[in-house]
Amino acid sequence: MTTALHDKFARLGLESLYSEEACRELEAEFASIRALKKEHNAILLAHNYQRPEIFEVADFVGDSLELARRAVDVESDAIIFCGVHFMAETAKILNPSRKVILPNLNAGCSLAEAADAEAVVARAEELRRTYPDLAIVSYVNTTAAVKAVTDVCVTSGNAVRIVNSLPNSAVLFIPYKNLAAYVQENTSKKIIPWEGDCYVHHQMKPSDILDVKKNFPDAKIMAHPECRTDVLGIADAVLSTAGMIRYAKESPATEFIVVTECGLSDRLLMEVPEKKFYKSCNLCRYMKMITLADTKRSLQRMAPEITLPADIIEKASGSILRMLELSA
Ligand code: 13P
Ligand code: SF4
Repeated sequence: MTTALHDKFARLGLESLYSEEACRELEAEFASIRALKKEHNAILLAHNYQRPEIFEVADFVGDSLELARRAVDVESDAIIFCGVHFMAETAKILNPSRKVILPNLNAGCSLAEAADAEAVVARAEELRRTYPDLAIVSYVNTTAAVKAVTDVCVTSGNAVRIVNSLPNSAVLFIPYKNLAAYVQENTSKKIIPWEGDCYVHHQMKPSDILDVKKNFPDAKIMAHPECRTDVLGIADAVLSTAGMIRYAKESPATEFIVVTECGLSDRLLMEVPEKKFYKSCNLCRYMKMITLADTKRSLQRMAPEITLPADIIEKASGSILRMLELSA
């Protein structure tokens, strides 16, 4: 007998990844996870790049900005964060009295690793000799320590708007050169990039996307602003992960090529089942470190917990709250 979950995944074209047997086991795991969440008064937040089975047990799924906004309002005792380390840190900074659990502490991010707080402060001091009103703007894909030395944080969904709203004429943009280049194209301010890379988006090339487009000429290309400038140049829309879901729902188009981490294609299939999505994507090994088994284990143990020094929480919250105010 087929399960409701298998029927659902089959309708989404995911049956080769989720056999009937696997779906039966997953449904039993979902029941235990839901019971554990209730027992520990925990809420499960998940990023759009997580696995389909994580979406099924999440209380809220979103992009970095939506997850930060949701974290502020959490009243449950604990947040189980299915995403990467800097996102769980952001939740802790915004709601420090809650216990924040990241099911696998190794789930990092190549961008967050690219900038360290001391180097950022030193570079800003050097640049202020030439640009006295320089602002330090950090993508949320940074460590809490970097956020603590930052004037304002941004996400992919609000970077251009926030940079344009600042009174400063020059910006040190941490930690990603591709996102800095995208912001530079959309502002008259001087943007000085940091040389970090998202290894997932930086590998994507126009030729790979155009190969997919040859087979689906009517499909709209949706690309994440973390992609290279030449990739953004051939995109019909440049959007955050949540922006892609909204665009796919609202656009009259019925076919889309998804240029970002592959988890978003699964999320689009689940959120907009009436339309077609073609992958021109890469997997993020960090996002995929979070498994359902780890999630269940973390709820059983209520660990591993994200902890941060009080002074870092206080300083970092300033730059994130400023972002939330400016993008309200
Ligand atoms: P979003 O804010 O668009 O979800 O992006 C987060 C991220 O890590 C992209 O690689
Ligand atoms: Fe970091 Fe890139 Fe993975 Fe996003 S996709 S978490 S930016 S390594």
